Amino acid sequence: MTDLFSPFALRGVTFRNRIGVSPMCQYSCSEDGKPTDWHLAHLVSRAVSGVSLVIAEASAVTPEGRITPRDLGIWGDEHIRPHARLAGAIAAVGAVPAIQLAHAGRKASRRPPWETGAAEPGWQTLGPSAVAFEGFATPRAMSEEDIAATIAAFVAAARRSVQAGYRLIELHGAHGYLMHSFLSPLSNRRNDRWGGDFEGRTRFACETARAVRAAIPEDMPLVVRISHTDWVEGGWTTEESVELARRLKALGVDAIDVSSGGLSAAQKVPLGPGYQVPGAAAVRSGAGIPVLAVGLITEPEQAQAIIAEGKADMVLLARGFLREPYWAMKAAVALGRTDALAIPPQYERGWSSLGAMAMDRAVGEPLPAL
Ligand SMILES: Cc1cc2nc3c(=O)[nH]c(=O)nc-3n(C[C@H](O)[C@H](O)[C@H](O)COP(=O)(O)O)c2cc1C
Repeated sequence: MTDLFSPFALRGVTFRNRIGVSPMCQYSCSEDGKPTDWHLAHLVSRAVSGVSLVIAEASAVTPEGRITPRDLGIWGDEHIRPHARLAGAIAAVGAVPAIQLAHAGRKASRRPPWETGAAEPGWQTLGPSAVAFEGFATPRAMSEEDIAATIAAFVAAARRSVQAGYRLIELHGAHGYLMHSFLSPLSNRRNDRWGGDFEGRTRFACETARAVRAAIPEDMPLVVRISHTDWVEGGWTTEESVELARRLKALGVDAIDVSSGGLSAAQKVPLGPGYQVPGAAAVRSGAGIPVLAVGLITEPEQAQAIIAEGKADMVLLARGFLREPYWAMKAAVALGRTDALAIPPQYERGWSSLGAMAMDRAVGEPLPAL
């Protein structure tokens, strides 16, 4: 039985356990896309909790691919140095530093969620077709040249990520952003080779993955985050996700990070604990590829069961880590596995005494002197 605290490897990278921090946009750059002290504090304070993987938020591969003007970016060489500071600090506390490369497509040019509405001044958004996300501006349908330039931007961003010291790259193919909008027939109405049937709609994801794979080191894992379903009648389906995962695997993608939704305001999401885990399990068994499960995974026992039952190879938490940056330590205590967690020596006394207290309660012995 695989354990939440057992190591896991993809290519040349070994993760010390199966717990990772899911990418979370912080909308905290000035307007130049460079990471700030906020990103450093945010990511390192979670990395230090003993997680094995920290995925830095959606980082735009072009300026127009940002969700908001304050998004993180990696579209220029000037971004390498500040990203290197982030990646180095995450690695220094033992977690694998990763980056999510993104293009927001027709969902770009917005304000941060706490402000809402369109960015001002905004910019022309891009999409596979001139079909707007409900309430957003209509994107310009991408030309062949736009598509080639965007794939090249993903490749250049991947090379910069390698230079910055990230050890895993995730391509953002979920939540209605550009790659996802090519996959779904609801947003992709093209009738050229980039749309139409399954082959055409998956071409952008496959060609981007192929090009990025060829540009990064052999021992570096490549992950693609997908929305396994649009949760809309007539939209992208879990069956299609399984077939896409098979193809991505053949192109050298090492794992699929399985999310869902975000493409249409008409979605009916069956929210509940672990609601995306069945999608992850379907991709894992159907395509024979490792998967990362995410979405309302909040309890240590729940996370342990997902791994032990073979539904996923790793669990990611997002909001859980906003509430409890040291969730991994809490999980180790709850599951009696403080032995397996790399608690930094500076924090050792806080957590070892808690572990000892839990054990003492179990055996009815007095608390140790602190
Ligand atoms: C503040 C915030 C920012 C997010 N930003 C991203 C992002 O940059 N990329 C992404 O793929 N998902 C993003 N998500 C989605 C999360 O990664 C995660 O998939 C989702 O919140 C479900 O997991 P949870 O229930 O553990 O929060 C974000 C979620 C939150 C709460």
